Amino acid sequence: MPPLLNRRDFLLTAGTSAALLPMHHIFAETLAEEPYALTAPTTRPDWERLKQAFILDQDTTYMNVGTTGSMPKHILAALSQDNRLIARNPRDRLGNTSNRLEYARGRLALSFGCSTDEIVISGNTTYGLTLSLSGLTLKAGDVVLTTDQEHPGLLAPLQLLADRKAIEVIKVPLPVGENQTPDDYIERFQRAILSYGERVKLIAFSAPTFTTGTMLPIRALVDLLIDTYNQYGWSIHSVVDGAHATGMFDLDFNTLGIDFFCGAGHKWQCGPGGTGIWYLRNQVSDNNPIPLPRFYPTVSDYYREDRTPPAPDGERGEYDIGDFLQPHGNPNYPAAMALTNVCDFWRQIGRDNIERYTVHDLGAQMKQRIIEHWGNESLYSPSGHSTLLSALTTFTPFAHDRDNKDISDLFVSKLYEDYGYIVRNTATPVTYRGAPETEYPIRISTHLFHDANDVQGVFDAMKDLSERFEQGVIAETPTLLNRENDG
Ligand SMILES: Cc1ncc(COP(=O)(O)O)c(C=O)c1O
Repeated sequence: MPPLLNRRDFLLTAGTSAALLPMHHIFAETLAEEPYALTAPTTRPDWERLKQAFILDQDTTYMNVGTTGSMPKHILAALSQDNRLIARNPRDRLGNTSNRLEYARGRLALSFGCSTDEIVISGNTTYGLTLSLSGLTLKAGDVVLTTDQEHPGLLAPLQLLADRKAIEVIKVPLPVGENQTPDDYIERFQRAILSYGERVKLIAFSAPTFTTGTMLPIRALVDLLIDTYNQYGWSIHSVVDGAHATGMFDLDFNTLGIDFFCGAGHKWQCGPGGTGIWYLRNQVSDNNPIPLPRFYPTVSDYYREDRTPPAPDGERGEYDIGDFLQPHGNPNYPAAMALTNVCDFWRQIGRDNIERYTVHDLGAQMKQRIIEHWGNESLYSPSGHSTLLSALTTFTPFAHDRDNKDISDLFVSKLYEDYGYIVRNTATPVTYRGAPETEYPIRISTHLFHDANDVQGVFDAMKDLSERFEQGVIAETPTLLNRENDG
């Protein structure tokens, strides 16, 4: 019979065993056991075989990854298994929670080119953007430059800053359409910086935009901030809304030199809902010599009288910024681990392979088909300059009805009801043309579970449908209205 434990021994034993819980399930190394797991990073993924990793409904073709993605089977299975395990034995939630999440953050850091102290698993993009903006010490009269193509996930926290702190938010109008270059973006931001001068403290923009699918030149914009710093001594920091970038592009946050990057875990990264990838620069280097901004963790378990972050004026942030931010109340471990696992899966497939396939292969094919049939001017996405491309393609088949929301809504509904293709439309400001107009392009997402047949299929369906519209056959009202802000 084992010796009886006193209360202190018991607590120590319980604490130790919880901390040393076996790594199965909650730390599920499920990928190693998976038929879809690849050993590499591989040079030439078998995209047809990879399709089998997803449980997407075969009766329709899902091409709205921009709103949300679809978890691979084995990630979904491990997530369900972990949730079951916790429901059956909630004691497994005890233990060294921050160590477990730190381990997960270390794996994410490998995926995204940064160190563990610079990455946090967030609730979603909106969460990261809101906490990035609320943690900065902006004051009345400071100017934040953003663009006229932003999502409410960024606009809402900016509006809060305007209303609560009298920060001035200036929207730089972006070019829309096929014929644009990275210089267009640099020139517009440079003009705005020079006209508002030293009051400009931050630029905040999405890359790619959800309205047109344009990938803004992040590195070149950071270079503009560095040049401004070197020339005038103004420290302007940067926040990227990368909701669509994580899982679509091969990102290296340190090399990009950005201060804050907020991505979704649930869109192109195909992780669970309610997950996001949040990067915070925590080092001064050649990639970005501008001093770090003073930053407060708005949501934190770790912040105390004797544990406040020091002013970051050294070569490196003097504290693990991620450690301040990650622990805040009860985390969703299964979701965090599912996100970590799916990020590892993308790394095994090769993030460069995924970017090439989704953006430069399928995405470019989609744009090419559209140009051949509807002409250059039908595109809202860029098509010429390869660095501005994304796997989102936006266009209108309605040359004379570009601002007609009803007709665009009806097109999206019919494409689903009559042909089985699921896409969305966006409300896209075209203020750069002079008038503050809104137009309603159709948006198609091409991802790693699609192939050339899907591109051809959705093109044929859209061509047929637009001919039916031209013939006036379609007069019904839309049945499946898109919500404007669902990503
Ligand atoms: C550009 C952009 N930013 C932010 C969001 C919000 O993303 P999340 O749901 O991850 O908060 C979306 C999509 O919904 C988006 O398209």
